Amino acid sequence: MTHHPKIYVAGHRGMVGSAIMRHLLANGHPTERIVTRTHAELDLTNQAAVSAFFAAEKPDQVYLAAAKVGGIHANNTYPAEFIYQNLMMETNVIDAAFRNGVQKLLFLGSSCIYPKLAEQPMREDALLTGTLEPSNEPYAIAKIAGIKLCESYNRQYGQSHGVDYRSVMPTNLYGPGDNYHPENSHVIPALIRRFHEAKVNNASSVTIWGTGTPRREFLYVDDMAAASVHVMSLPQSTYSRYTQPMLSHINVGCGEDVTILEVAQAVARTVGYTGPIHTDTAKPDGTPRKLMDSTRLNALGWQAQVRLEVGLKTAYEDFLTHYAT
Ligand SMILES: NC(=O)c1ccc[n+]([C@@H]2O[C@H](COP(=O)([O-])OP(=O)(O)OC[C@H]3O[C@@H](n4cnc5c(N)ncnc54)[C@H](OP(=O)(O)O)[C@@H]3O)[C@@H](O)[C@H]2O)c1
Repeated sequence: MTHHPKIYVAGHRGMVGSAIMRHLLANGHPTERIVTRTHAELDLTNQAAVSAFFAAEKPDQVYLAAAKVGGIHANNTYPAEFIYQNLMMETNVIDAAFRNGVQKLLFLGSSCIYPKLAEQPMREDALLTGTLEPSNEPYAIAKIAGIKLCESYNRQYGQSHGVDYRSVMPTNLYGPGDNYHPENSHVIPALIRRFHEAKVNNASSVTIWGTGTPRREFLYVDDMAAASVHVMSLPQSTYSRYTQPMLSHINVGCGEDVTILEVAQAVARTVGYTGPIHTDTAKPDGTPRKLMDSTRLNALGWQAQVRLEVGLKTAYEDFLTHYAT
């Protein structure tokens, strides 16, 4: 009989956490061997509550997909909340996991850990080689601290306690459960909303910010969940062969970037908007290219599966079901 570890998915109602849940359940992990708590039930910034939860539930594995997440505006307006809450959540969960015998934990970070001017595609060893993008520096510092927490617990307690905490850094994600807020969403959900509204209102055209030429990488969230479970499941000898004790995180991307105009055109096709798309070149473009180097992950046996057109179709269906007015 297969022994299923007891898995705690922190942030199971978020976009990534819910995709990890879908993946585990679809691959036969029994529901009763998954532990979850909503934010209302367990505030992960509360150390005493997190300790009590781990002591009571004693999970075998943890996916740390809970975080305070937001766009540029939120990061700029609430920098104290972004650094404090993320540091607290990581510190509380990672330390409580260790104190309660958890040997396997996966920490989710973000591509914003890399320097603003990192060479493209961004390799894992670009970490801490330059100045961060100021708008989300507090958030990025918290994420870097999360990686370093995992590495430090591995270095101090790996031999003695079998601690094996790993980190994955996803590129831009999209898919079911995304945030479609008009002012505070990422590129793909914002475009889905814009083109959907243009279609239903018979708008004469849609204008996108900037020249449309910056290149970005997008990964479907269920691919991210599959990659997370893949990395978590690798034998320790394999993981350590491809990582270093103080450079242990793994990029998760699809390996290809597209221009903003190409994404807009793909979203328009998905939504069924057939009018013209204009660019507003007076608006800023942002950095010309952002692409992860996912060679490490590919060498570890994982490749993205879901093509952009296919992922966009599911994302749009999710938008229509949950958000369209
Ligand atoms: N989305 C992306 O494009 C993207 C890209 C790269 C990396 N990531 C990373 O992936 C991870 C998950 O992101 P996501 O997009 O899934 O975010 P999300 O949809 O906002 O989900 C985050 C989850 O964490 C929970 N949470 C926040 N603060 C909490 C607290 N104090 N106590 C307990 N739960 C709390 C939230 O619950 P409430 O909503 O109830 O507060 C929510 O369920 C993050 O580490 C993020 O950096 C995401």
